[in-house]
Amino acid sequence: MSRKIKLGILGGGGDSLIGVLHRVAANMFDKYEIVGGVFNPNFKENIEFAKTLGLNSSRIYEDYESLIEEESKLNSSEKMQVISVLTPNFLHYPMAKKLLENNFHVICEKPLTTTYKEAIELQQIQKEKNAVFAVTHTYTGYPMVRQMTKMISDGIIGDIQKVDAQYLQGWLNPIIHDKNKRSSTWRLDPEKSGSSCCLGDIGTHAFNMVELVTGMKVDKLLADLNTLYEDNQMDVDANILIRFSNNAKGTIRSSQIATGEENNIRINVYGSKGALKWEQENPNYLYQLSDDRPLQVLKPGHSYNSKISLDGTKLPPGHPEGIFDAMGNIYKGVARAINNETYDKAEFPAIEDGVRGMDFIEKALDSNSKGNVWVELNK
Ligand SMILES: NC(=O)c1ccc[n+]([C@@H]2O[C@H](COP(=O)([O-])OP(=O)(O)OC[C@H]3O[C@@H](n4cnc5c(N)ncnc54)[C@H](O)[C@@H]3O)[C@@H](O)[C@H]2O)c1
Repeated sequence: MSRKIKLGILGGGGDSLIGVLHRVAANMFDKYEIVGGVFNPNFKENIEFAKTLGLNSSRIYEDYESLIEEESKLNSSEKMQVISVLTPNFLHYPMAKKLLENNFHVICEKPLTTTYKEAIELQQIQKEKNAVFAVTHTYTGYPMVRQMTKMISDGIIGDIQKVDAQYLQGWLNPIIHDKNKRSSTWRLDPEKSGSSCCLGDIGTHAFNMVELVTGMKVDKLLADLNTLYEDNQMDVDANILIRFSNNAKGTIRSSQIATGEENNIRINVYGSKGALKWEQENPNYLYQLSDDRPLQVLKPGHSYNSKISLDGTKLPPGHPEGIFDAMGNIYKGVARAINNETYDKAEFPAIEDGVRGMDFIEKALDSNSKGNVWVELNK
């Protein structure tokens, strides 16, 4: 039996949103052992939190530089093999760069970096090092997203003619109207978030979903962004028209001021022979529409699903699986890649998805600042 992959974590402390999702996901299939990390920039809090996880403090470090230095001294059977980077956005690039340079595999939160240039640089190093690099677009791990992707690539809905994607949240509404409250979130601080708030945080998820499920690349976009107030420089709402090279067209709408919305990411793909619709707040239902048959609802775990969809389901049909399971599926795929086992590229989003995401953000900002003009994405 193969030994567990040694995993380190940067960020994701007890005060964080995303840490628990990664820890549960890493433990879900018994493929990883979390051995240490830097959960928090405050060393005392870092140690305290590590204790609550039952971790030995000898592998809890002051900062990522000392983690890399000390871990690199260990022999290969002890050393952390892969590190999850779960910090605010501005730290992804320096952390991932140094990790790659020192021969660690990386699982990185989105957005990959704060600029496209940094993303390309990371990709270059990742290629040179032949490292496994995942970017956690969590929603891609859902069984019915995998099923939708497979059905579209099998031509079940024919040629794609329209794509409608959205990611709507409302959590910024109680914050944005009061200037004093805006500093309560790093997401509105360009120093920590990068040049975008809404697009970087959630627009990239919708963009990644569009390219994943359609199997097509967005060719051009036209963006109309909203900061709501002149004294807020960060986008909090986005309406984007997209075009693909085959002349299919679509929209990506993302917002953090869609009052009352929670995590309403949804994608509809309309083809010449039918359509498929999926939404993450009801993730176990995939809707199949056609011109001449009643609506069909596909669910996970049934034998009519594809191999890759079934691989993402653990329990018999009717036992709802959710966001933890979706992230668990991503970690499972990454484990296969690290262990040099056979895996399907669709099992986890990789660095090229992160690079595409950064191009999407920068081109949308560019389109908006030039007066809502069409801008081409890089090939
Ligand atoms: N995949 C998803 O669906 C999803 C969802 C939420 C957040 N995210 C991404 O995850 C990242 C973190 O977001 P969050 O909401 O958890 O943020 P958060 O502010 O809730 O938590 C950030 C964590 O990083 C730690 N941290 C900060 N500076 C650090 C440093 N120098 N060294 C070590 N730890 C440090 C903080 O102590 C905290 O524990 C962001 O990039 C965000 O875009 C992704």
